[in-house]
Amino acid sequence: MSGKRVLSGTQPTGKLHIGHLVGALENYVNLQNEGNECFYCVVDWHALTSMYSNTSAIKEHIYDVAAGFIAAGVDPDRSVIFVQSDVKEHAELHLLLSMITPLGWLERVPTYKEKKKQIKDKDLSNYGFLGYPVLQTADIIIYKANYVPVGEDQLYHLELAREIVRRFHHIFGKEIFPEPEAKITEAKRVPGLDGRKMSKSYNNAILIEDTPEEIWEKLRVMKTDTRRVRKTDPGVPEDCPVFALHKIFSPEEVRKECAEGCRTAGIGCFQCKKFLSEHLIKKVAPVGEKLRKLKENKQFLDSILDEGARKAREVASQTMEEVREAMNL
Ligand code: ADP
Ligand code: NA
Repeated sequence: MSGKRVLSGTQPTGKLHIGHLVGALENYVNLQNEGNECFYCVVDWHALTSMYSNTSAIKEHIYDVAAGFIAAGVDPDRSVIFVQSDVKEHAELHLLLSMITPLGWLERVPTYKEKKKQIKDKDLSNYGFLGYPVLQTADIIIYKANYVPVGEDQLYHLELAREIVRRFHHIFGKEIFPEPEAKITEAKRVPGLDGRKMSKSYNNAILIEDTPEEIWEKLRVMKTDTRRVRKTDPGVPEDCPVFALHKIFSPEEVRKECAEGCRTAGIGCFQCKKFLSEHLIKKVAPVGEKLRKLKENKQFLDSILDEGARKAREVASQTMEEVREAMNL
């Protein structure tokens, strides 16, 4: 496979963790290495929908995310790494698309309804939050992207993007955009230290930038199968978040030894975590080291983001010329 356009966005709302690494970044790198033309965007305007009253941290998190991309293996010479707000054309297309997007389509978005109910500490009854999927559509189609690597929770947004594209073509009589397709990331759900999904909002994450010592300190106190109170109590590996990490990071023979040792109380949780930490650190530490180094060199990151914005703007402004022409603007 080659020659497809890919777009993906990451919000600069926190530091990247190992869930991002195996759940998103590795996929970014694979798509790049398969020969696709990839645009990886730090979507700072989207971060505003939840951080509009607390914007001071966004700048620093832009560096966290951009450095995370590069440390994981996204190559700025082959992929375009850029910040959404550096390409103002996204805002223009968002505005134009908003004119043809029925309100009902947005009110039906499942994540809109859920988040408004779930998130109690922020008032999400604002216009920007409702319009989030329209801006997301603009982010994607302004690059004429064919594929968008997303998790399952984003499928409805992609369907909406395709509907907006079809409506645009129907109203203005010109086929400008491909209908973007979701590229579902293989469901590797990385559990956090408390057993829930690892997330920057739960304070349960192992960060990519954590040192080997910090990683071990976190694993040492990580939750295990609660049946194993003493070392002599047998456990159920399938109920243990530490074992879920083994499945992602450890080679098969280690995984087998730990599962067997857990079921028969042959090894304790401490030993099981020791084995895990060795393999987890082997994979994460080199990426973490690169990430920490990159963040020490903001000038270098700025130069990459400037160059990325230049390349992105070239494509985006070309698309906008076609859009304005189709709309007689
Ligand atoms: P968070 O929940 O930490 O705010 P995001 O929603 O910013 O994370 O996640 C961006 C992408 O990173 C997701 O679409 C998903 O692909 C990946 N990701 C995040 N957390 C995990 C996790 N715990 N396990 C697997 N993938 C994850
Ligand atoms: Na999330």
